[in-house]
Amino acid sequence: MTQITVHRILPMVKRFLAKVVASSDAVIDATAGNGNETRYLAELVGEESCVYAFDVQQVALATTAQKLGPLQSRVKLVHDGHENVLQYIKHPPIAVATFNLGYLSYANTGITTKAQTTIQAINAIVQSLKCGGIITVSIYQGHDDGAESSALLVALSQLEQLAVHVARYELINQRNHVLYLLLLEKLK
Ligand SMILES: C[S@@+](CC[C@H](N)C(=O)[O-])C[C@H]1O[C@@H](n2cnc3c(N)ncnc32)[C@H](O)[C@@H]1O
Repeated sequence: MTQITVHRILPMVKRFLAKVVASSDAVIDATAGNGNETRYLAELVGEESCVYAFDVQQVALATTAQKLGPLQSRVKLVHDGHENVLQYIKHPPIAVATFNLGYLSYANTGITTKAQTTIQAINAIVQSLKCGGIITVSIYQGHDDGAESSALLVALSQLEQLAVHVARYELINQRNHVLYLLLLEKLK
């Protein structure tokens, strides 16, 4: 079978997370949803570390808990908005945080991430991120008629370039589920 080099967005996110997480790090899934990234992070961190998984929907946290099984002992499920993240992190600095923006299709509640609170959360996490730590932000372009995506691009492109690198990664020939990744790395 051919070895893939140019990965789709979500597998790419996992590769970036795996590269940066060390077993004692505190890490964040800012949008738990079905718990896919939460579970992946719980597998990466050690027994003594903590994954903080946020969601405003109790149904999402219940699904995440089910997906975690015994790995739940490494995860703190937080039923609150990620904009309040620093109220919950007991052991900064943070190594990685991951956001998956849009709505949770199975729950069909219409509850979706919003530009203002997403930007608030990212700015807060950047302050507590360790040097070399990363934030991954996966965005469905069509969500919100592009409003959250546009606002994020404006806000993140203004981050101080000597303090944070901000990159955009996307496959430009995809017809369905058009998703792109913003990747932040703290430099100092
Ligand atoms: C696209 S889904 C995440 C998908 C997830 N990564 C998975 O594995 O299924 C986005 C999630 O963000 C949640 N959300 C919306 N606003 C939020 C906020 N302010 N803080 C935390 N979570 C929020 C939604 O409830 C939804 O479950």
